Amino acid sequence: MASILFYLVVSFFALASAQTLPPLESGLSFSFYESYCPKLEAIVRNFLKEKFKKDIGLAAGLLRVHFHDCFVQGCDASVLLDGSASGPSEQDAPPNLTLRPEAFEAINDLRALIDKRCGRVVSCADVLALAARDSVALAGGPNYKVPLGRRDGLNFATRDVTVASLPAPTFNVSTILPILAKINLDSADLVALSGGHTYGRSHCSSFSNRIFPSRDPTMDQTFFKNLRNTCPTSDSSNTTVLDIRTPNVFDNKYYVDLMNRQGLFTSDEDLYMDSRTKSLVTAFAINQSLFFDKFAYSMVKMGQLSVLTGVRGEIRANCSARNARKISMWPVEGDGQSAAH
Ligand SMILES: *[C@@H]1O[C@H](CO)[C@@H](O)[C@H](O)[C@H]1NC(C)=O
Ligand SMILES: *[C@@H]1O[C@H](CO)[C@@H](O)[C@H](O)[C@H]1NC(C)=O
Ligand SMILES: *[C@@H]1O[C@H](CO)[C@@H](O)[C@H](O)[C@H]1NC(C)=O
Ligand SMILES: *[C@@H]1O[C@H](CO)[C@@H](O)[C@H](O)[C@H]1NC(C)=O
Ligand SMILES: *[C@@H]1O[C@H](CO)[C@@H](O)[C@H](O)[C@H]1NC(C)=O
Repeated sequence: MASILFYLVVSFFALASAQTLPPLESGLSFSFYESYCPKLEAIVRNFLKEKFKKDIGLAAGLLRVHFHDCFVQGCDASVLLDGSASGPSEQDAPPNLTLRPEAFEAINDLRALIDKRCGRVVSCADVLALAARDSVALAGGPNYKVPLGRRDGLNFATRDVTVASLPAPTFNVSTILPILAKINLDSADLVALSGGHTYGRSHCSSFSNRIFPSRDPTMDQTFFKNLRNTCPTSDSSNTTVLDIRTPNVFDNKYYVDLMNRQGLFTSDEDLYMDSRTKSLVTAFAINQSLFFDKFAYSMVKMGQLSVLTGVRGEIRANCSARNARKISMWPVEGDGQSAAH
């Protein structure tokens, strides 16, 4: 009964949101850079198209950085700040394992290219949001519209805040839903956004809890044997693909994996084990358009979390560092540009 009700609610929600996007936060718009940098979207897309020809793994990496940025203190590009001069920051917190240095480099290169064409008018947070969209679209996923006008944050997220804000791959649905509820994301957003695991790779450490000391009973036997071959010990530094069916394509095969008990993380497979999320996993596995519509919706929703707009924040000159300023907003010595020691 409960699951039928859930299915009806989900069906209604999916219908209501098909081809539509959530309302925009004030200060954001789809045409924000139309007069300052009319070629912005083409610059980003062409740059990434070339990059992905050489390294399609970068696409998953860039999407991950945008997720990470938005989940921790809002989509303000704080994840891009290089914390080495001012103590531990977001980049140094444990979930950093999923963040590839190439992704940070690509954002900085892209930003330099945009500056050359348009001047320093586009925020790093917007570059990241556009790069994430193109990382989806160029790998076969939906080509949704991205609201723009975000500004870059002035503050680092501390290591503690970062760890508390990011659901770990070892968490189950019961543990993750309350974390998401704090930022107004619901179970449908969870299932849709988890679809980002349709490409990319993971280190053994992120799923060793499911294969050591023995097989997680919710995992397929053959899948388990193969993973034990990839990760002979729990501290193996090896990596494996997140989606065994189509590891480099953005499609709905991730949900087919889950239905076959071939989800890699606890946070993946539990989506199929938990009655609150199972029916949507099945719906996405059957209907890719439904997944794409819902993914676009949830991405635009997530991409507007605690954004800075108008005169708040700044447009960083260098995505890895705050602009130099006279009055420090960061409560330690140093201004993020100079070494603090
Ligand atoms: C990731 O974080 C851990 C723990 O803070 C740290 O030891 C490690 O060097 C970091 N790795 C990278 C690639 O930055
Ligand atoms: C989810 O994880 C929490 C914390 O590890 C645990 O207490 C709980 O039993 C788990 N729930 C299910 C349904 O596995
Ligand atoms: C890494 O995984 C591959 C299979 O994915 C395996 O053939 C290889 O032996 C593993 N390497 C190590 C060092 O365990
Ligand atoms: C798949 O989902 C789309 C909504 O995105 C809907 O229009 C279509 O009718 C669905 N297809 C089937 C076979 O249910
Ligand atoms: C940008 O900032 C980072 C971190 O402070 C620094 O290492 C890098 O050299 C800077 N890049 C440029 C082009 O100034």
